[in-house]
Amino acid sequence: MFTASPIPPTDARHLAVEGAGVVFATRKGPFTALRDISLTIARGEFVSLIGHSGCGKSTLLNLVAGLLKPSSGVLLLGNREIREPGPDRAVVFQSHSLLPWMSCFDNVHLAVESVFGGSEKRAALKARTEAALALVGLAHAAHKRPAEISGGMKQRVGIARALAMEPKMLLLDEPFGALDALTRARLQDELMRIVAATGTTVLMVTHDVDEAVLLSDRIVMMTNGPAATIGEVLDVRLPRPRDRLDMAHDARYLECREAVLQFLYRKQAHVETEAA
Ligand SMILES: Nc1ncnc2c1ncn2[C@@H]1O[C@H](COP(=O)(O)OP(=O)(O)O)[C@@H](O)[C@H]1O
Ligand SMILES: [Mg+2]
Repeated sequence: MFTASPIPPTDARHLAVEGAGVVFATRKGPFTALRDISLTIARGEFVSLIGHSGCGKSTLLNLVAGLLKPSSGVLLLGNREIREPGPDRAVVFQSHSLLPWMSCFDNVHLAVESVFGGSEKRAALKARTEAALALVGLAHAAHKRPAEISGGMKQRVGIARALAMEPKMLLLDEPFGALDALTRARLQDELMRIVAATGTTVLMVTHDVDEAVLLSDRIVMMTNGPAATIGEVLDVRLPRPRDRLDMAHDARYLECREAVLQFLYRKQAHVETEAA
């Protein structure tokens, strides 16, 4: 008899990217940024996109966000075609996009209102906002404005705002790229805890190998552009919760790290120069 229940097909194909390509119209003519991108992400999975600068990571994330339309192929979330941005896909960029004249509370509340304002009472909206700020450990800073808090705290507000929308997918484009190493490590740990607590499905762009291995269930490695595509996909079979100090001497962790480094610095070592 079977004891393990198989993943329902809709959950295994929570996100499906099918043969997607992107061609930009430029002054020098058409520029193929991405070609033949096919990728499925299961519900609750944490997937990282890694590749050299300019290979098309943000372009792929923007396709999923609906900020950009594919020139070919199709993208589906929960079996519905992605045609435009929507509250079911919350995006956090490297530089925060908080409204400077609003408090942290109001920044999060604005998003909560836009998603749930039509169906829920004011007290429920307030509770959602407070819960999201508490989730990222910022309940105490709710009344502060972006200019009054650190860069790490601003990114945490951005994550709180994204999660408060209860998105089907959380999209992160180098969310910790502008932070110092210690703050980055703290936020990575916090993100792992939040994702474990909420079961959120995540697609994260990074060029930090350790960040990718520590956080991901799978690492999608992209070839260099132009016409970049998926080169290899690495399964990161490390048990959770993951502790960064334990990982530092875990053989499986080091193997994954080595595989990504090999891909980036041997197989994809050649990067087109600007002059070419
Ligand atoms: N709107 C655009 N028009 C023309 N070219 C673009 C546009 N957006 C991105 N590109 C080009 O597409 C490639 C991939 O860019 P991007 O996705 O930002 O890379 P990454 O995020 O991996 O650094 C780059 O060569 C970039 O110059
Ligand atoms: Mg980018």
